[in-house]
Amino acid sequence: MEKIALVVGSSGITGSNVAMKLIDKGWTTYGLARNPKTDFENLHPITADLLDTQNLNNALAELRPTHLFITTWMRRETEAENIEVNSLMLRNLFDVLSAKKSVQHVALVTGLKHYLGPFEAYAEAGTLPVTPVREEQPRLDIENFYYAQEDEVFAAAARDGFSWSIHRPHTVIGYAIGNMMNMGTTLAVYASICKETGRHFHFPGSEAQWNGLSDVTDARILAEHLIWASTTDAAKNEAFNVSNGDVFRWNWLWYKLAEWFGIEGQGFDGTLRPLEPILADDQHLWREIAVKYQLKEPDLSRLASAWHTDLDLGRPIEVMTDMSKSRKFGFNLYQDTRDSFFDLFQQLRNEKYIP
Ligand SMILES: NC(=O)c1ccc[n+]([C@@H]2O[C@H](COP(=O)([O-])OP(=O)(O)OC[C@H]3O[C@@H](n4cnc5c(N)ncnc54)[C@H](OP(=O)(O)O)[C@@H]3O)[C@@H](O)[C@H]2O)c1
Repeated sequence: MEKIALVVGSSGITGSNVAMKLIDKGWTTYGLARNPKTDFENLHPITADLLDTQNLNNALAELRPTHLFITTWMRRETEAENIEVNSLMLRNLFDVLSAKKSVQHVALVTGLKHYLGPFEAYAEAGTLPVTPVREEQPRLDIENFYYAQEDEVFAAAARDGFSWSIHRPHTVIGYAIGNMMNMGTTLAVYASICKETGRHFHFPGSEAQWNGLSDVTDARILAEHLIWASTTDAAKNEAFNVSNGDVFRWNWLWYKLAEWFGIEGQGFDGTLRPLEPILADDQHLWREIAVKYQLKEPDLSRLASAWHTDLDLGRPIEVMTDMSKSRKFGFNLYQDTRDSFFDLFQQLRNEKYIP
């Protein structure tokens, strides 16, 4: 039977990577967003706002997807609002598709905030998880839009009879322009500015992050994981962590990233040096760099998401994921984290987003 994928959030860092991977594997692939990507060959774009049921109904009228890849989210001021908006997006989607009875599997991407807590109580004392984080750890006793999204999936699956999988990546490293959270591109822009100005390439985060063990999730590994769980019977109706499969310490990786740019890295020296205030003053400088090197994106805010990098690298504990469950269920792909960053940097350079 033909597999018809609907990638929800297809312009994002996760969505664009899964869409590309699905197309490579020969799936008929539709990509939905308010401004969907149109530059991927063979991706059928669907323009729709998940918060507008009428608009969504019209946009999906002709479509009978067999597999949903849900990679969308919105950020609001409070977690209560995050819950409202992010669960409504999923409820609207499932309600519009319910009568078609075409959906066989739904893969939902959440993340390690499942274990670390929502933005407004992120990695706070009293709720810090045991690391490496494991899938069987119970939900925290605090409101979280990821839990609300999971509950929407469980309810619709029970009503409509599809299988599901939940995917919990760590920091996603990969190619996407103008998306909300992208540590790899943020560090590429920061390093490029340091190189251009001779400024120090300081590690922005905490001592625990500098010295502790870490891992990250390459967007390409995440894409493979989503497709694997959606097509593997044993993996149905399960939640999985997903990361590269290696571990590293920032007190090693930071210098490798610096080396790639041909600059000197500066380690943690007792002071947190958040990137957000630093890059906030660099908008004008980035425009000048963009003109000088004929770069495609002169707007720094479309490349860097310093607030998110600060949040990740500022955590008071080391954070890494246990991958045993995926391994036991048969997912064995692995990615060297150095190459996650280096491949991204090279692509950003090739496509004229960094000098
Ligand atoms: N990025 C990371 O480092 C990271 C790490 C761990 C976990 N996660 C989690 O992974 C999940 C996916 O995140 P991501 O980083 O891949 O997201 P992203 O790059 O910000 O992309 C979000 C996508 O959703 C679309 N979207 C947003 N609001 C929409 C609406 N109302 N209607 C239709 N489409 C809408 C966006 O396109 P338009 O704006 O054009 O609509 C975009 O395509 C989230 O739960 C996130 O918390 C991310």
